[in-house]
Amino acid sequence: MTGIDYTQKIPNNVDLQGDKRLQRALEAWQPNYLEWWGSMGPTDFNQNEVYLRTAISVDKDGWAHYGFVRMPEYRWGIFLNPAEPGRTVGFGDHLGEPAWQQVPGEYRNWLRRLIVTQADTEPASVEQQRLLGHTAPSLYDLRNLFQVNVEEGRHLWAMVYLLHTYFGRDGREEADELLQRRSGNADHPRILGTFNEPCQDWLSFFCFTMFTDRDGKFQLLALAESGFDPLARTCRFMLTEEAHHMFVGQTGVGRVIERTCQVTKEHPGKDVREYGAIPLDVIQKYINYWASSSTDLYGAEVSSNSANFFSAGLKGRAYEERYTDHKALNETYALDRFLDGKLVHEVVPLRNAMNEVLRDEYVKDNQKGIEYWNRIVEKHGLDFRFRLPHRRFNRKIGDYAAGRFDLDGNPIGEAAWNAQVGEWLPTDADRAFVKSLMKPVYEPGKMASWIAPPAKGVNDTPTDYEYVKL
Ligand SMILES: [Fe+2]
Ligand SMILES: [Fe+2]
Repeated sequence: MTGIDYTQKIPNNVDLQGDKRLQRALEAWQPNYLEWWGSMGPTDFNQNEVYLRTAISVDKDGWAHYGFVRMPEYRWGIFLNPAEPGRTVGFGDHLGEPAWQQVPGEYRNWLRRLIVTQADTEPASVEQQRLLGHTAPSLYDLRNLFQVNVEEGRHLWAMVYLLHTYFGRDGREEADELLQRRSGNADHPRILGTFNEPCQDWLSFFCFTMFTDRDGKFQLLALAESGFDPLARTCRFMLTEEAHHMFVGQTGVGRVIERTCQVTKEHPGKDVREYGAIPLDVIQKYINYWASSSTDLYGAEVSSNSANFFSAGLKGRAYEERYTDHKALNETYALDRFLDGKLVHEVVPLRNAMNEVLRDEYVKDNQKGIEYWNRIVEKHGLDFRFRLPHRRFNRKIGDYAAGRFDLDGNPIGEAAWNAQVGEWLPTDADRAFVKSLMKPVYEPGKMASWIAPPAKGVNDTPTDYEYVKL
């Protein structure tokens, strides 16, 4: 059952036509989704043909088909990885019991909350990015933006399928609400902070796909371990799509850096701004901003919710198979908390530190991206080096939100923060400068002044391919 049935109104590999009631419910939700896309998606480009990939199977190889599609006609559907026969719960108190094919009654509310929280990020990011098409630095980038957008739309479908199928009436209500909240709306915002932040320029978009979509990767890895089997299978397939989003971010920022390095060498001693490139230290500030905001998405360092989700077998650790003790019951986790205005070393039960355990993996993965960017600078023989801000820097959630920390994570006073914040986070002038560069470049193969061309085109096409027919 890995092939996807495209003859159906809603493409799927879950035998949707075998459950008429569910099929009707989802077919009733579909026009609402399309209406949302039509008003909150990249609306001005809905009539243009875009070179998009569409999933045709969930097999490891050859799952993608490439072709020109108008976005509203993209075949959003429901694709789950195949079931593993005899799969058992891989962690927590239910370790070794058969994985659940239905929602365990006692965990219904927790599970719904986990699914809704993940689901809400998907349409949110489409809303955040909806105007970027007007300032795309190339057709290649415009196409990548739209690919990310349609896949975030599909991720919403993935979560809505779970809500409709397994949560009855309240699941259907949650699915409706997912189309009603709005990113950045004061009265009816998206659930998580980062997903309400404006993402109005392409440097922000690349940082978002690098750091915020990477949070998505780790949340999905943790949910892919879930003892609730349909959630695990859904997330496993979402991860294959997510990888492209992070590729867009990592290589996108890399190309901005590449361009700045080129300009620096061509015009020694000059301000790269004069040549329409973005200074490396401004790029670093954008990294600091999006990395810190996305680091918040893991929640509080010490959390009884995270312990509950783990104990119940609902949300595991990324790469759970790498651990030896899957119960994590008698283990501890040591960390520096920030309590009453100072850092305090504490040892807490491991289960209560599951947010921090996931954040550790995230920080490690981010660090690899920083090293990739530094190799670009090194290749050009420049002295500048990028860095990841310490996880305590600029936090709004958890212990560290109560204080101020420098890029190395040292506590500092409010006055020191105010004196230096302009060197650490984008200033109004930085944002205005970056914004001034945001002019569309729609000629095939051409790039904006501030970004280098990609190393290669999409799906072996030449980089001057007409990816979007405008
Ligand atoms: Fe997503
Ligand atoms: Fe994503």
